[in-house]
Amino acid sequence: MKNKTAVITGASSGIGMELARLFAADGYDLIVTARRVELLQKLSDELMKAYGTSVRIIQMDIAQPYAGEALWKAISDITPDIEVLVNNAGVGDSSDFATESPEVIERMIHLNISTLTALTRHALPQMVKRDSGKILNVASLAGYQPGGPGMAVYYATKSYVLSFSRSLRSELSGSGVSVTVLCPGATATEFEQTASAQNTLLFKWSKPMDAKTVALAGYRGMQRGCGEVVPGLLNKFLAVSPKLGPAAIALAVNKALLARRS
Ligand SMILES: NC(=O)c1ccc[n+]([C@@H]2O[C@H](COP(=O)([O-])OP(=O)(O)OC[C@H]3O[C@@H](n4cnc5c(N)ncnc54)[C@H](OP(=O)(O)O)[C@@H]3O)[C@@H](O)[C@H]2O)c1
Repeated sequence: MKNKTAVITGASSGIGMELARLFAADGYDLIVTARRVELLQKLSDELMKAYGTSVRIIQMDIAQPYAGEALWKAISDITPDIEVLVNNAGVGDSSDFATESPEVIERMIHLNISTLTALTRHALPQMVKRDSGKILNVASLAGYQPGGPGMAVYYATKSYVLSFSRSLRSELSGSGVSVTVLCPGATATEFEQTASAQNTLLFKWSKPMDAKTVALAGYRGMQRGCGEVVPGLLNKFLAVSPKLGPAAIALAVNKALLARRS
């Protein structure tokens, strides 16, 4: 019998790489994407050796306009028959909006929102037709917050991913296609550095979870068909906490947590 294929964006590090290991251990064929092809090649060699996994690599910068279309074309040139789509690639930026680089903002919105949306749109029809498939979107605990002063655009993009995933799940209910959104809190990956968030109280004070634990929670949640997965007990509380009081309080707390200290 033919193995099922999972596509994972952002598999060259962190949560995406750990997800790739879990899919491979369960016998999926993989299509992995990122810019750093040497890291994807190393992962491919590891998974081939450990599980005999077929790993196809697509090197692409997907923080650009119409990257979702270009990526889907590259995927469907390999196979149009995708069982799982994991929209994991994402970036943050710790910055005051008024001085934030317009280019960084634009690329973040393309990567975190536009590419994720377009790729899902392209992958869904074959899943719906087959009446089987899974979508796993990686949002963030940030998505549950009323806002994130100091990381305004990032928080807004993750609210989009959460809202979009909830709606899509509802649209597809009763079908064989499931939509799961993974909402991690602070996690020990390259994100802290690439988002320049290492000097925020959030990353200084909190004890980040490890990427393996976060990926496993998301993977299991997706396989069980859960709607939302928030790994960690404290994070589960933080996800509901904004509902317990006025938004102004949550915004003030987030402003303090996201303030940069040297
Ligand atoms: N770490 C946290 O604290 C945390 C918390 C909540 C949510 N998340 C979310 O978790 C997801 C995974 O992040 P992570 O923590 O695992 O961080 P990470 O280690 O920095 O991984 C990010 C991945 O996205 C890829 N990527 C970034 N920009 C890209 C681009 N322009 N084109 C193609 N691929 C790109 C990176 O690959 P290349 O650099 O090789 O292209 C990398 O594989 C993200 O959506 C993030 O928002 C993270």
